[in-house]
Amino acid sequence: MPQTLKFKTRMDAVQMPIVPVVGDIIRQVPGTISLGQGVVHYGPPREAIEAARAALDDPATHRYQAEAGLPALVDRLAAKLRDENGIDVARGSRVMVTAGANMAFMHAVLAVTEPGDEVILPVPFYFNHEMAIEMAGCTAVLVPTDDRFQLRLDLIRRAITDRTRAIVTISPNNPSGAVFPEATLRDVNTLCRERGLYHFADEVYEYYTYDGVRHVSPGSFPDAAGHTISMYSLSKAYGFAGWRIGYMAYPEHLAPAMMKSQDTILVCPTVISQVAALAALNVGRAYCAPYVAELADVRHLVLDALASLGPLAATPTADGAFYCLLKVHTTMDPMTLAERLIREHKVAVIPGTAFGLRDGCYFRVAYGALQKDTVAEGIGRLAGGLRAICGR
Ligand SMILES: Cc1ncc(COP(=O)(O)O)c(C=O)c1O
Repeated sequence: MPQTLKFKTRMDAVQMPIVPVVGDIIRQVPGTISLGQGVVHYGPPREAIEAARAALDDPATHRYQAEAGLPALVDRLAAKLRDENGIDVARGSRVMVTAGANMAFMHAVLAVTEPGDEVILPVPFYFNHEMAIEMAGCTAVLVPTDDRFQLRLDLIRRAITDRTRAIVTISPNNPSGAVFPEATLRDVNTLCRERGLYHFADEVYEYYTYDGVRHVSPGSFPDAAGHTISMYSLSKAYGFAGWRIGYMAYPEHLAPAMMKSQDTILVCPTVISQVAALAALNVGRAYCAPYVAELADVRHLVLDALASLGPLAATPTADGAFYCLLKVHTTMDPMTLAERLIREHKVAVIPGTAFGLRDGCYFRVAYGALQKDTVAEGIGRLAGGLRAICGR
């Protein structure tokens, strides 16, 4: 019998990743429709797959390459950041390619903190952000948002202490779908500059906005370059989640710290994925535009169906990403209700507790994987299940 070593570790206080937990229950109930994981239903552009196929025969694909990313990809990303995000890296930023935006966030936390420091996370937060902060030995300081999940600057300002190192914004937001107005993001960015903090801007859903709402990159504001870390991903826009490619633009003075983290955790981003990413970026944003247009219709169907739940539940309008948050007026524990929805009604959603919503029964509804013909079935099961279980 091997000995079981049991020490107290930094991981003890970190929440279990919720998606595999819910995934386990889903696997026990075949035929479940998942409104759980934040994925899109489409894959990468054909050009990306062809480039990857061709790269297999290039010996360079199989060797270590530049730590920050293939120079051709880094240059292409710098041009994209300039043209689409208004971030001119020549004003004092560096670009680094990472294994997804999750790794960019982990690097950023490690680069700007020491154990015991604090990072401000507006609630609802993205669970991996909270987990990364805790793994780094820091404290996630949770700050409520308003009833439409918009930022409360007054509360953020009040949460700053002499241990605060960064404020995180996610816009468009996971899990709420809220898009923060330019003025709010400017205020956060200015507050960070004035108080000597970093602004971590997660812009993974930059292309997913609806009804004319516009995404704005905080890194484009004047004087932002010195304290703003802007994070992006190909996972959603290019149907690239399994290729693990994300990237960030970060202040030049953090280059040594970022390099230490990258070299230790990744050495270099997967070369074949980078070759595919470059080909995808050359196709460009136009690739996902039709999918975003289709999601706009799906979103209307989802919001209308959820609105019909009337007094049983409420869903603030969400202008971006492919999520909304449903508040069910019940005293039931959200995880228990989520499990019953899977087992009894074959539909999966993620409990709001995973996103820091611990006061009330919230669920994140993810519709990125739905198409017009599957949305009615998925949302129908959710609405029917909630009516049956919560009894109104
Ligand atoms: C807000 C947010 N940031 C980062 C990520 C991670 O993306 P990636 O696949 O690039 O690591 C996600 C994925 O769902 C996300 O929702």
